[in-house]
Amino acid sequence: MITVTPTQRKLIQLTSFYFLPLSLVIFAVTLATDSIFVKFGELAVYLVAANLFLKPVSVLVRHPLVQPLLAQAMTFRREIGVASFWLYLAHSMGMFLGRGLSIDFVLNPKGFLIWGAIAGSGMWILGLTSNNFSQRILKRNWKKVQMLAYVVLPLATFHAAKAEGEYAKFILINGAFVALKVAQWWVTKKRSMSNPQLAPQPVKQ
Ligand code: HEM
Repeated sequence: MITVTPTQRKLIQLTSFYFLPLSLVIFAVTLATDSIFVKFGELAVYLVAANLFLKPVSVLVRHPLVQPLLAQAMTFRREIGVASFWLYLAHSMGMFLGRGLSIDFVLNPKGFLIWGAIAGSGMWILGLTSNNFSQRILKRNWKKVQMLAYVVLPLATFHAAKAEGEYAKFILINGAFVALKVAQWWVTKKRSMSNPQLAPQPVKQ
């Protein structure tokens, strides 16, 4: 059984919300190199993907050794999301300032940067609403806003693929995600048919 103590949880939250951005700023003004800022972009994409993959994988994988780990990881989705936002910010700022890019160049509809900029707008909305205050204000709409991550993943991976001129990773990540979501839907349906108590209950007004 995996347990995370309240102190460990607090530490993980502090790392994601404060220590990570602080370290990225210190890093950026001291020893950052162009290739590290590219790596931050990669890490940001992987965290966005990990966050989205967690739900279907936790529904599909029922192994008693893995399930508790996945259940714990699910409780850290906000922290993972916030960490991906900081990494995206460091990536885009590092690329923009470090390479002296112009707004016109970023917004060129034929280039690869425009896809990153659109994905980045989504990252901003996700980042700014990843707090208790937004959750209270948005109420049931909060979940809908968080579903923006479904759009950010293909856009960010397309931006990266176009930048690299190599589309295998784009197809693999998005293909795997669609396959997992279909499998999640199918397995949930089968389970609720064999055990009607597992079927989603109508929301009480
Ligand atoms: C306005 C926003 C953005 C700017 C200005 C920007 C800038 C760039 C640039 C210049 C490159 C080419 C790097 C190279 O020469 O290899 C790049 C690649 C990349 N970007 Fe962005 N980006 C933005 C948004 C994003 C977002 C939102 C993500 C992910 C969440 C992301 C992830 C990546 C990845 C994974 C690569 C490919 C890295 C590689 O070559 O392996 N970017 N970006």
